[in-house]
Amino acid sequence: KQKIIFDTDPGIDDAMALLFIQKSPVLELVGITTVAGNGLIDTVTRNTLYLKDRFGIKAPIAKGAGPALDGSVSPASTRVHGENGLGDILIPPMSENTLDPRPGWKFISDIVRQYPGEVTLVAVGHFTNLAQALRYDPDVVKFVKDVVVMGGAFGFDGYLGNRTPCAESNIYGDPIAADEVFSAQWKVTIVGLDVTMKLPVKFNEIDQLKQSNDPACQLLWAISRKYVNYYRQEGLDHIYIHDAAAVAAAINPALFTRRSGAVRVVTEGFARGETIQKPDDRHYLISNWDNRPSQSVCIDVDSSKLKNL
Ligand code: BDR
Ligand code: CA
Repeated sequence: KQKIIFDTDPGIDDAMALLFIQKSPVLELVGITTVAGNGLIDTVTRNTLYLKDRFGIKAPIAKGAGPALDGSVSPASTRVHGENGLGDILIPPMSENTLDPRPGWKFISDIVRQYPGEVTLVAVGHFTNLAQALRYDPDVVKFVKDVVVMGGAFGFDGYLGNRTPCAESNIYGDPIAADEVFSAQWKVTIVGLDVTMKLPVKFNEIDQLKQSNDPACQLLWAISRKYVNYYRQEGLDHIYIHDAAAVAAAINPALFTRRSGAVRVVTEGFARGETIQKPDDRHYLISNWDNRPSQSVCIDVDSSKLKNL
């Protein structure tokens, strides 16, 4: 089985992705790290503890970063994920006593060293924990098998962001961290809006979850009421399952068409959070591409196969 650490900010699509991991016969979840994003760090950690408790998830949870590396705090709009990050269903207070005592970055560093070359990091929130692991333990890159992230948008359909006109939410929340993660000497697969927005799930498909006796399906239906309303108000007839697409990329990389090349992130100014992959012949106008490794940006997806999965 493929060992993974899931770095997450639940989050409705994060909850979908986590339960997808738990049900996958080919993935072994060796740990979960939380990071601020769809709520403040205490909120998303509480939500992760709740999902672990309710669905008997065995993997330990380590609480990760709140503020971004530059100290900023920019949680996603409560219109999308609700005030409590999980569509405002009733969630009891959860004790943090069962958390792993290590901070998220340290947990990542220790676990990948325990299983050298075996662990895939699947990161679907701000990339602060991964960047901290790189800063505090630069050799971590030698121990990680690969990294799969949900984040960014590369304009393949002229679309650059869901958070601002030029930034996707996970990148916008900590652009410095994202830039460091994409520039490190490890193998990163980037599953951005270019592909996640090619995976619409119709409201009536989501309603099928309600017919299932599986408690995981029931929960996903309940938490997605708020999410569905948000997308309906946006004039759509479907939702997006962003984070689950990154999990699918860890399960079956062949579902995606990719483009290789160095990736940089705009870290300040009004284009904060914009992601750019090195273009073939215009890159000389932007400096500092040197020594940046080539990363793999997903530009297309076999949507029917992914949805079947
Ligand atoms: C990403 O932002 C978060 O709100 C979602 O959980 C997903 O990880 C989509 O842009
Ligand atoms: Ca997320």
